Amino acid sequence: MFSNRVVVVTFLALVTCIGGSAVALQGVGNDEIVKQLLRPGGQYLTFDTNRYESGPLVEAFDPEQRFAAGKAVFYRDWLTTTSGDVPLAGPDYDATSCAACHVETAAAEDLSTASFTPLIAKPATRAHLERFGPQLTTNRHGAAEPEASIEVLRVSWPFVYPDGQQRTLVRPVGRAFDRDGETVPVRLRAAPLLFGWGLLERVDPEMLAFFHDPDDRDGNGISGRLVGDGEHFAFLGWKNSHTSLRSQIAAALANDMGVTSRHNCGAGCSDEIEPAELDALTEYVRHLGVPDRRPLDELAGQHLFGTTGCVDCHVTVLRTRAAGDDSPLAGQLVWPYSDLMLHDMGPALAEPGGAADASEWRTAPLWGLGVVETHLPQRGFLHDGRARTIEEAILWHGGEAEPAKRRFVALTASEREALLAYVRSL
Ligand code: HEC
Ligand code: HEC
Repeated sequence: MFSNRVVVVTFLALVTCIGGSAVALQGVGNDEIVKQLLRPGGQYLTFDTNRYESGPLVEAFDPEQRFAAGKAVFYRDWLTTTSGDVPLAGPDYDATSCAACHVETAAAEDLSTASFTPLIAKPATRAHLERFGPQLTTNRHGAAEPEASIEVLRVSWPFVYPDGQQRTLVRPVGRAFDRDGETVPVRLRAAPLLFGWGLLERVDPEMLAFFHDPDDRDGNGISGRLVGDGEHFAFLGWKNSHTSLRSQIAAALANDMGVTSRHNCGAGCSDEIEPAELDALTEYVRHLGVPDRRPLDELAGQHLFGTTGCVDCHVTVLRTRAAGDDSPLAGQLVWPYSDLMLHDMGPALAEPGGAADASEWRTAPLWGLGVVETHLPQRGFLHDGRARTIEEAILWHGGEAEPAKRRFVALTASEREALLAYVRSL
């Protein structure tokens, strides 16, 4: 398990990296930190990785059993759920259940057979956005042809470390064709991991305000940007486009599956999902637990995570709001390894979309990535799933993360391995 030294260093890294926010941790002793470090999702929302299955973990707090009800909605196939004879999915859709895209939520026994995370395609030009909406759909029920078909080409090239070690980087390039066979330029997006967002939804806004540094006043070369106001911050979607799980999920129902809800259809439009079901679905996603940390005996990787500068964006620990909240998610120390800010990640990752600039992306949380790499090796990392491993994801870092990437590349092979082992342990 963790040696005390590892823990003390983590604690120091935590104090130095979150600076002023460390005040929030006053009164938390070292033993308490050890305990909490091993439970990245706080007291209630961490699960044992010998058995990969996220949530519920808060049954005691869920007397109405909304978690179980929401899980059923998450797995529901909306194509076989009908009103009269008409499927509730569609007519245009990409997939017909949440679980079809967010495969990592599957139980352990299903994970090995889970298919690749499908990529969705967003129109890339204003004219195409006006014509098709935020997302191109590739399925349609009935006899009519779907709105578009998508083709994904994979372009690859070698990457060579200064010490001669070689890797191959692969990038998916999407093209879509409308019904007339005309090309529609698109941007690809992978389905993100879903666990832990209920905790991050409750992160203390003051803490986030601390990371918001658009003009890089502290001069560390990192200018994280928070989207939103003091109370409501956007933290969902690869480019931080939604401020709450409920609005993100209502958008997913509409755009991915063609299922309407009061949330996203105007007057006179009927709910295809009952409001109570949307609530339950939201509760389910909100309470998806985070994988336990995996034991790691050595300290080197953790030290390198700090010295290469990963920690400047992948901030170790956050705290959820406590005041006036009796939810099990309140007042928890959680370890997502993200500041939730948008960062300029350079031209190789740049793609327009949403309110963010093309090169801006939300710092991806690193919790549970090792478990995902082991259990779902075909899933991929980064916003379009291009990185097949955690190591490839790092090699794609650019922009404000370029110096950190360069320091990573310049490490010896065994140091790189130690850093990767640390990231896999989170
Ligand atoms: C067709 C595939 C697909 C389906 C079906 C789908 N999603 Fe998603 N989901 C995505 C993609 C892709 C994104 C990222 C969108 C973006 O950032 O542009 C996403 C983002 C999310 C997020 C935000 C996660 C984050 O990291 O910020 C949540 C929460 C979510 N989906 C929940 C759901 C739920 C609940 C359902 C079922 C109602 C659902 N999704 C159905 C593909 C899908
Ligand atoms: C300037 C901020 C910044 C720094 C510094 C940084 N990252 Fe990241 N990292 C990000 C952002 C933003 C993303 C998401 C990019 C995307 O999806 O295109 C990301 C994504 C990742 C991912 C993929 C996660 C996933 O779920 O897809 C890994 C792994 C990762 N970073 C590890 C590291 C490591 C290790 C370091 C240090 C060598 C590092 N990062 C330095 C901002 C940063």
